[in-house]
Order: sequence, then structure tokens, then C-alpha cells
Amino acid sequence: MKIVVIGGTGLIGSKTVTMLRQGGHEVIAASPKSGVNSITGEGLKEAMAGAQVVIDLTNSPSFEDRAVLEFFETSGRNLLAAEAAAGVQHHVALSIVGTDRSDNGYFRAKVAQEKLIEASDIPYTIIRATQFLEFLGGIADSSASGNTVKLSPGLFQPIAADDVAPIVAEVALAVPRNGIVEIAGPERAPFNEFVARYLKAVGDPREVVRDPAARYFGGRVEELSLVPLGEARLGHIGFDEWLRRSRTES
Ligand SMILES: NC(=O)c1ccc[n+]([C@@H]2O[C@H](COP(=O)([O-])OP(=O)(O)OC[C@H]3O[C@@H](n4cnc5c(N)ncnc54)[C@H](OP(=O)(O)O)[C@@H]3O)[C@@H](O)[C@H]2O)c1
Repeated sequence: MKIVVIGGTGLIGSKTVTMLRQGGHEVIAASPKSGVNSITGEGLKEAMAGAQVVIDLTNSPSFEDRAVLEFFETSGRNLLAAEAAAGVQHHVALSIVGTDRSDNGYFRAKVAQEKLIEASDIPYTIIRATQFLEFLGGIADSSASGNTVKLSPGLFQPIAADDVAPIVAEVALAVPRNGIVEIAGPERAPFNEFVARYLKAVGDPREVVRDPAARYFGGRVEELSLVPLGEARLGHIGFDEWLRRSRTES
């Protein structure tokens, strides 16, 4: 089967491309570096010719509210138009658990991306994942002021990229759900406690302060804002195992 992974050089994209190639599929790892750009449209027609499945694993270079909204709207429109012209039979996209329950700018952009997919005629599956364990450092940095990291005690259930990629690959090969699948990590704990555990484990001296009013990328985090509310598929890699693997890889 020919599968195009847009954002095929990224964290989840590169792992997904490897898995699908191991399964014997013809996979195009598309990104601006390989001449495929979902914003300008460059290379989309050529990449999608003869493809049955397109997996959108792009991310915006800027997380600023307006920039990220423009990125996911423009990219989503261009991809779906190119897929319709090429007769693609399954569009898969990676979104975030709780996008519709929080008021931050990044989540609003992901909701806009989801709406474009739902309104298109292309059969689709949207996978909503919780935050990636690989993103813990970025979360700490974005919530830091000097040596203090303020975070909400809302519940947090991060998932390892090595758990996300096989699920994305599996979903891409299955029948389109025309709906949403939620996935999360195996451990659930307050946001502040998880990030404190991470900083301690990597020897980062910054102190995590529990602050129910702390904002995450500009949005409030209530107790259940970031975790699945209903049925969710769980990954197998817990925090300690993920840390052990990331130390072995580096
Ligand atoms: N971070 C989280 O915790 C989290 C949680 C749930 C869902 N997600 C979602 O998961 C998705 C993948 O995230 P990630 O961390 O794997 O992303 P990433 O590592 O930042 O990779 C982004 C990819 O997008 C490509 N890209 C950027 N601009 C593009 C354009 N104009 N046209 C085509 N490709 C473009 C990049 O290509 P280059 O290498 O050429 O720049 C790269 O391959 C995102 O949509 C994100 O919203 C993230």
C-alpha cells in the first residue's frame, strides 16, 4: 500500500515511517526538507499520486496563537484538497486529548484542524493523544520563571512516542473510523508532580510549585482537562521505562 506521512521527519513521523516500511509498505516521508510543503502546496500532488492513505503528523514551527491557527488551517486545507484530487481513501491525523475542553491557543488550532477533517468527504480517523513524555522538558521550560516552574495539579497522563507511533501505524492500516480514537500513557498523576519527577530524574534543579491557577500555553488546566474522559487505549511505556530508554538512546 502507498502511504504518505506528512511530517515524516518529526518525532512521531519518523518512528511511524520506520514501522510502516518494516511492514512492507511504500512510504513517502514528506516534509519541507524533502520538497513537500503543506503550507505552500509544493510537492503535494506528486507525493500523493497513487496513495491510499495520508497521515498528517505535521507541527507548526511557531506555537504563537495566531501562527499556530494559521498553520493548521492552511496545512489542513491544502492536504485535504490534494487528497481529494488524488483519490486518497483514508486521512489520519494526530490531535490532542482535551482539545475541545481547554481554552489555549494551540488547542484551538487543533480543533480547527479536526473540524476541517470532519467536514471533508475523505474517510478519516483522528487520533487524540495525551502529551508526549518527550515533551516534558518543553512543558517545564514554557512554565518556568527563573528557577520556579508553576504548574496546575490537574491530572496528567503522558504517553511515550514509542507507544504513539505503532498505534498511528495500526490505525492507518485499519478501516477509517470517521471518528476519534483516544490514546494515553499507562500512568496518571497530577501535572505538577509528573514534571517535578522528570526534573529530579534529569538533575534539573528548578523547583516545581503547585499552582491551581497556573496556565498551560495560556489555558487553565482543571482536574480533568488533559486526560481521557471515556474509553482510551493505553500505551505500555511508563515514566521509568521511558527514561531508561531515552538514556540508552542518547
Ligand atoms: N507534543 C505533544 O505532546 C503532542 C501531543 C498530542 C498530539 N501532538 C501532535 O502530534 C503531531 C506531531 O508532533 P511531533 O512532536 O511529532 O512534531 P515534530 O517533531 O515537531 O515534527 C513536525 C513535522 O512537521 C513537519 N513540517 C513542518 N512544517 C511543515 C510543512 N509546512 N509542510 C510539511 N511538513 C511540515 C516537519 O518537517 P521538517 O523536519 O522538514 O521541519 C516535521 O517533520 C502534531 O500535530 C502535534 O500537534 C503533540
